[in-house]
Amino acid sequence: MVKYTIQNLEENYSIVAEDVEKYLKANELKIPKNGKLSKKVYQGVLDFYIENEKRVLNNGSKPKEKPAFESEDKRVAIYHQDVITFLKSLPSNSVDLIMTDPAYSGMNQKLKLGKGKIIGRYKDRGEKGKWFDEFLDTEENYNTFLKECYRVLKDNRHIFLMFDSYSLLTLAPIVRDVFDVKNILVWDKVNIGLGHYFRRRHEFILFASKGKRKVKLRSIPDIWNIKRFSQAPYPTQKPTEIFELMLVSSAEEDFVVCDPFLGSGAAAIASIKRKCRFIGCDISETSIEKSTNRIKEFIETGNDNMQKNPMHGNDEKMLKILQSG
Ligand SMILES: C[S@@+](CC[C@H](N)C(=O)[O-])C[C@H]1O[C@@H](n2cnc3c(N)ncnc32)[C@H](O)[C@@H]1O
Repeated sequence: MVKYTIQNLEENYSIVAEDVEKYLKANELKIPKNGKLSKKVYQGVLDFYIENEKRVLNNGSKPKEKPAFESEDKRVAIYHQDVITFLKSLPSNSVDLIMTDPAYSGMNQKLKLGKGKIIGRYKDRGEKGKWFDEFLDTEENYNTFLKECYRVLKDNRHIFLMFDSYSLLTLAPIVRDVFDVKNILVWDKVNIGLGHYFRRRHEFILFASKGKRKVKLRSIPDIWNIKRFSQAPYPTQKPTEIFELMLVSSAEEDFVVCDPFLGSGAAAIASIKRKCRFIGCDISETSIEKSTNRIKEFIETGNDNMQKNPMHGNDEKMLKILQSG
């Protein structure tokens, strides 16, 4: 016999219990103590989410909040919001690919390097001498973040999460509790950066899936050789080519791609280039301002005002992949 429970909805449709309760409250329906729902209410909640899903399919996944910027064709939207608030506002199973580069505070929190500041140069430092607000990456927060990523991602889809060495040690293992981790890729930045003991030349990209999905190109190696910026217009700005490689590996045309730590909007530019839709958010006003200008200009003129030149490395194969499509 089928039992209609809040848990069913969570397990079978990735609709979080909290959302079901919100829906019941908003519709003045009684919240059952044992989680059991009448068939009618169960169907009602499902219909509501299916309707939401349609909204997503029609215009790209969209939270209720007004976007800070939305392209005329509604294929690109960015929000000035905190990552968790943003993700929680997205419907379940509405995103085709997550590719993101979180602002980890692990380096400062756990290793207490220097005076607790990120090392680097950026004129636009905030009050605390940091480049930008960091996502407080306690295990609890990171878990919440990952579970939200899982909920919003459709079945049989991928996630790419960027890590520095420190956060790879502390936080990456948590990813395995939520996603099916497939590989850890290395971004070889070609040129060395700063570093207390050895000069840093790489970062990690954790590649995982919700359900089963193959990569589209089996010839892509697990070391990505792409030059880093020496002085980027936005702190920790990544070359768009990194995100393009993620798209080449996983996305189809019209996929809804999500980056909830938007920064300079590099992931958005890569998504537009690869004919995908895009949604993203950032907590920083500077990020929203700069990425809005960047995306607008790119859509109108094809000019990327925050990355003038391609940042290819010296790997011929990679170059070919990037030049295709
Ligand atoms: C490492 S940067 C991303 C850089 C980006 N990938 C690029 O190529 O430009 C991380 C971003 O996360 C943002 N951020 C920090 N805390 C956040 C939060 N709680 N919610 C959303 N964004 C946050 C920062 O403002 C910063 O822009």
